[in-house]
Amino acid sequence: MLIGSATLVVICAWLVAVQGTTQLARGPHDVSAFRCFDSKLPNVTIFATGGTIAGTGSSGKDMSNYQIGSLGVQHLIDAVPELCNVANVRGVEVSNVGSHNINSNMLVRMSQQIQQELDDPYTQGAVFTHGTDTLEETAFFMDLTLQSRKPVVAVGAMRPATAISADGPMNLLTAVSLAANHDAWDRGVMLAMNDRIGAARFTSKTNANRVDAFMAVEQGYLGVFENTKPIFFYPPARPLGHRHFDISSQLTAKKSLPKVEILYGYQELEPSLFKSAIDLGAKGIVLAGVGGGWWPTAARRQVDAWAEASGVIIMTSSRSLSGYVDDSSGGIGCGFLDPQRCRVQLQLCLEAGLSRHEIRKVFQFGV
Ligand SMILES: *[C@@H]1O[C@H](CO)[C@@H](O)[C@H](O)[C@H]1NC(C)=O
Repeated sequence: MLIGSATLVVICAWLVAVQGTTQLARGPHDVSAFRCFDSKLPNVTIFATGGTIAGTGSSGKDMSNYQIGSLGVQHLIDAVPELCNVANVRGVEVSNVGSHNINSNMLVRMSQQIQQELDDPYTQGAVFTHGTDTLEETAFFMDLTLQSRKPVVAVGAMRPATAISADGPMNLLTAVSLAANHDAWDRGVMLAMNDRIGAARFTSKTNANRVDAFMAVEQGYLGVFENTKPIFFYPPARPLGHRHFDISSQLTAKKSLPKVEILYGYQELEPSLFKSAIDLGAKGIVLAGVGGGWWPTAARRQVDAWAEASGVIIMTSSRSLSGYVDDSSGGIGCGFLDPQRCRVQLQLCLEAGLSRHEIRKVFQFGV
């Protein structure tokens, strides 16, 4: 009897050890083992894509000349032992690139991986780490394509991991505590940057270098972190005009999303650039116009004629930091969406096969 229980203890200890070191292969992605486990805490999965948060420089002063994405997801998790106090975390390495190199194949794949985790009853929330330069595009893409009541939090860093006062570890801790918090349910994808919580639809990088870069200038933040605990200003809500795009059949197809280009508006612009975009296969073009979406009149007439002949969808948005663009300057107004988010949503509309009329209703809701 005595020998029996001793053997059982040894077997159990061995099983725990094996469980602790094996990589659990689940579905199309590998999820690492929990770094630590407390059955009273929620389970949060961290998806790492690279970026400054995983970057290392040659010195503590190096804020711009560093190696992007040189640290893997396990390194990010291990660097913040405090994560063990808020959640049982494990990681998935999606990619290790700067966010200027993220493409639509990666977005589709990661969306499906995160969806699979969210559908798992043993997972309570997800976080993805990402370079800050295009974080808003990826976060908005996830917001439009994921469907779950559980929180998904986008996080990055403005300073590499080796910098004095690196912001990555604190941002990651707040992001995980947000994903682990039940008050964060039913709010879609959020950003956790610099002690603040922002909605994926509205929060943008407003400065190329500073730590307080992420802001939702017009709509404001959803809440803040006090001692890393999320505190919300309002009860859960989704923005008006939110719409879910189902991309669950995309992974096997492995194709890119329809090509949509952005053209910037300015004095004396050259309209032939627009023609080149059409000739290069664009299915849609977002004009980052001046003010309420305007382009120089002669150029715009030319552009409308080309678009009419080719069937390309023209969207109008504004190069201003915020504002609303309706249909009055021609094409379909992007509403409150900035050019880069307008592009993401148009790609999903085109992929879903929506007509021009239906696309207009997605962007100009309530008008
Ligand atoms: C967390 O994950 C473990 C392992 O899959 C599971 O046993 C546990 O029940 C999960 N916790 C919650 C709260 O779902």
